[in-house]
Amino acid sequence: MQENGQKKKVLYSAVQPSGDLTIGNYLGAIKNWVDLQHDYECFYAMADMHAITIRQDPATLRRKTRELAALYIACGVDPAACALYVQSNVSCHAELAWVLNTLTYVGEMERMTQFKDKSARHADNINMGLMDYPVLMAADILLYQTDVVPVGVDQRQHLEITRDIAIRFNNRYSPTFTVPEAVIMQTGAKINSLQDPTKKMSKSDENPNASVYMSDDRDTVLRKFRRAVTDSESSVRFDPETKPGVSNLLTIYSVFAGKSIAEAEREFDGKGYGDFKAAVGEVVADALTPIRSEQERILADKDYLDGVLAAGAEKAYRTARSTLSKVYRKIGFYRPGK
Ligand code: TYM
Repeated sequence: MQENGQKKKVLYSAVQPSGDLTIGNYLGAIKNWVDLQHDYECFYAMADMHAITIRQDPATLRRKTRELAALYIACGVDPAACALYVQSNVSCHAELAWVLNTLTYVGEMERMTQFKDKSARHADNINMGLMDYPVLMAADILLYQTDVVPVGVDQRQHLEITRDIAIRFNNRYSPTFTVPEAVIMQTGAKINSLQDPTKKMSKSDENPNASVYMSDDRDTVLRKFRRAVTDSESSVRFDPETKPGVSNLLTIYSVFAGKSIAEAEREFDGKGYGDFKAAVGEVVADALTPIRSEQERILADKDYLDGVLAAGAEKAYRTARSTLSKVYRKIGFYRPGK
């Protein structure tokens, strides 16, 4: 409830516990979750069911899931205010995904940009789950009657299909799902690779210098920014078309330093790229150091973390089961005694 007695709107988001998280995941998603967490009723998941659409080593997946939960909290997500849980702990996600599959067309899934990209990258493992990824995502979001979904730009298409599926269900049966909106920040929603700034920074990039990981230590962060690709001019100016490298660094600097792009441009006016890149590295390293040590502290307290995740799953289950029961009733599934 809000102070004015109105029910808070619902916010849902998730990250996959695959690979190492980059500052792109942080700026595009988690940082915004923290900024929004007291204005909404929030559900934040570790999307392990999505992660297995790419082959995962079981022990690593289990470890990464805990590390991700600890990272959410270390970044400032308040487990007392939000439901923080592991997707596979709430069985309703798989159940609703099955129902939504029957309202989704194969052609729509084949056209998804991320499916096409991932199929090209994992040609030996184009499994049904990879294709069905957006339907599971729609199930995640719709189970909680979500109003807003803060994500990076790369998830826009998945949000659009979620809206289409929700509207389709509501029209075929009767109004059941809230139709969610994507929340995509103006700055930080697409952080690009430090080595090829026309490409998204990604957890799965083969070149370790292309991405800055949340787990990178100070020296590594400074080194990666020192090596970042810029251009042959020497003016620190925001122009993504002609100066993608410098613009990407300005974006990173501006969000981490809490300054506007224009302020950042003024600050580096007349300075060379060497000084600029060092300053970006410093501001990022300063932000990551306390997050990393807080994450380690949380990980060392297994009982605390497990307690948070068990309580989160219980809370999520209550909401999810109530939506799923409604869905089962509407589509005509028989329940003895009901
Ligand atoms: P994942 O783990 O691939 O990405 C998690 C979040 O990080 C954002 N992101 C970026 N933002 C800015 N710049 C980048 N370079 C960058 N790279 C990644 C993504 O947009 C995303 O917000 N499928 C989702 C996980 C998910 C989900 C959901 C999200 C599963 N169910 C329901 C919202 C609602 C994903 O992209 O994970």
